[in-house]
Amino acid sequence: MAVPASPALADATRGRILFGGDYNPEQWPEETWYEDVRLMKDAGVNSVTLGVFSWAKLEPHPGAREFGWLDRLMDLMHEGGIGVVLATPTSSPPPWMGRLHPDTLPRDEDGRTEWWGGRQHFSHSSATYRRCAAAITEDLAARYAAHPALTLWHINNEYCTFDYGDEAAAAFRRWLREKYGTLDALNNAWGTAFWSQGYDSWDGILPPRHAHYLKNPTQVLDFRRFTSDMLLECCTAERDIIRRYTPHIPVTTNFMPLWIGQDAWRWAEEEDVVSVDLYPDPRDPLGAQHGALIQDMTRSQARGPWMLMEQAAGPVNWRGVNHPKPRGLGRLWSLQAVARGADAVCYFQWRQSRQGAEKFHSGMVGHAGEQGRTFQEIKQIGAELARIGAEVTGSRISADVAILHDWHSWWAATQDGRPSTEVDHPAVLHSWHRALWEAHLTTDFAHPEHDLSAYRLVVVPQLYVLTDAAIENLLAYVRGGGTLVCGFLTGVADQDDRVRPGGMDGRLRDLFGIRTLHEWWPLAAGETVECDGPRSGFRGTLWSEELEAEPEAMAARYKGGELDGYPAVLRRGRAWYFSTLPEPDALRELLSGIASDAGAGPVLDGLPTGVEAVRRGDLLFVLNHGREPAAVAVPGTHRNLLTGETVTDNLLLGRYGVAVLRP
Ligand code: GAL
Repeated sequence: MAVPASPALADATRGRILFGGDYNPEQWPEETWYEDVRLMKDAGVNSVTLGVFSWAKLEPHPGAREFGWLDRLMDLMHEGGIGVVLATPTSSPPPWMGRLHPDTLPRDEDGRTEWWGGRQHFSHSSATYRRCAAAITEDLAARYAAHPALTLWHINNEYCTFDYGDEAAAAFRRWLREKYGTLDALNNAWGTAFWSQGYDSWDGILPPRHAHYLKNPTQVLDFRRFTSDMLLECCTAERDIIRRYTPHIPVTTNFMPLWIGQDAWRWAEEEDVVSVDLYPDPRDPLGAQHGALIQDMTRSQARGPWMLMEQAAGPVNWRGVNHPKPRGLGRLWSLQAVARGADAVCYFQWRQSRQGAEKFHSGMVGHAGEQGRTFQEIKQIGAELARIGAEVTGSRISADVAILHDWHSWWAATQDGRPSTEVDHPAVLHSWHRALWEAHLTTDFAHPEHDLSAYRLVVVPQLYVLTDAAIENLLAYVRGGGTLVCGFLTGVADQDDRVRPGGMDGRLRDLFGIRTLHEWWPLAAGETVECDGPRSGFRGTLWSEELEAEPEAMAARYKGGELDGYPAVLRRGRAWYFSTLPEPDALRELLSGIASDAGAGPVLDGLPTGVEAVRRGDLLFVLNHGREPAAVAVPGTHRNLLTGETVTDNLLLGRYGVAVLRP
């Protein structure tokens, strides 16, 4: 959302929560469309996404245009009072494109072609692909610019592809030339003195294709940066075409949750609306926390309300064992998204397919049809969202705590040849978020170079790469009175993945009171280390460190084993350093204490385990993630917007129960 005049989600919602989903009517005979509209109205659907995978239908032969069917659908939706999120179909080119233009097909790192017959078989670097994508986008934008059903544009779908082919190699070289200017600068940044990798010509540089042994890590890191940038170029090229026709209609592209391939901070700057697809596993005891993490991250990228573009009404079909959602869970997780800032609750997809690769993936209307339990629950969700929409949409959530996350650091940390394969970046991020979530602290996410001054507590689960600007930002934050908690493997490398002298940036070592970082002692799977203090003993997991600290900085020590007596947790003033990952309960306790000292408290006191509370604007959302009823103290008198009942001081929530309380 770069310029203030850009359209925003509010232009599409107009005081209602958008409710609906991906609609793929091309899979159905036209009679079904009328049935669909009837059921959509019945369920309170006010938004459908059309055209995501329609390229072959719209352009069955090169240059042909078949818009008639889409004209009829746009009109039908408008007559039914249903807005359309119109997608560019560019994530799945028609088979003719690959046949006539093999240069549009990407190659993997082993040189294998990704053929048509699935989806997302396009090369981000292919000039032919980009030309064809621009042409169909232009014609769509021109045709539907003035259509009254159009509420939002949806570009492509889950940009996530890689390409190691020749055209991508040429584009990579151009990208590198622009970044480094000279080969000397590239050789220096990549450390090519190692293993005789020095380049004497730009032409010698390749994507990090299949190699005999470990690849150059900075080459891999730059290739990830390049890939994210190339995909973004594809996206903004379509966006710019669309904006020429409909500057007043917001544009989005849907992110996958915590997807490694895109620097979502950077991407979000280019969107009017940030949207995400979210599929927690209904059997995962931490499914709700995973959902909360993605919701917090998406809200932070959006800097305000965001769009849940896809979720499943029931089972997905891409896990080993695909469980449906037990009764009530779909409602709970939909309202959780709203609690955490969503102004749109949508699904993949409206009607469950009978053919194709996703026929066993649920839809809002499942194979069981309108009598099915899923559709009945969808109706309830639609009705409830309609009830609360006017009071919720546009309202904000304020958090005292921020978790820092950066894709570049993740890319550098997630490579071969590291101290431990047990340290998984997203898992570490989840552990810290879980501790804060279970402590009922509301958290934002932030980029390490963002202004952090609004937060009382900043948590860095792991930022292996920190730029100088980020380090200065953290130091300034602490100097300005903020409390900082850093996990291990932070500040180790610079932006080129060059290890900083001393194994960790000197400014950070001073901040935490680390004199010498002698060795890292990663732990094997399931292995733990005993620690004592600061409040009580705990066990550390994943990692430990042999470090020497300033005596006054010692906050907890390792007990027993090789590191007996060495510091486990350091504290200097408001700066904390954890050289191990405490087990979940201990991390929650430790962070609660630190947060409370920093002036950041839980949303409500005395919340039972498994009950989540979020304040959004004036509203208090209380969500019971447990299968047993829960009694929650909610001091004062409130109105539950979902039921219309008055609630005074005490709230009883049944299994998966939710209340939306207004004072
Ligand atoms: C998403 C995708 C949808 C559908 C869905 C199934 O990743 O955008 O098109 O495939 O997953 O869960």
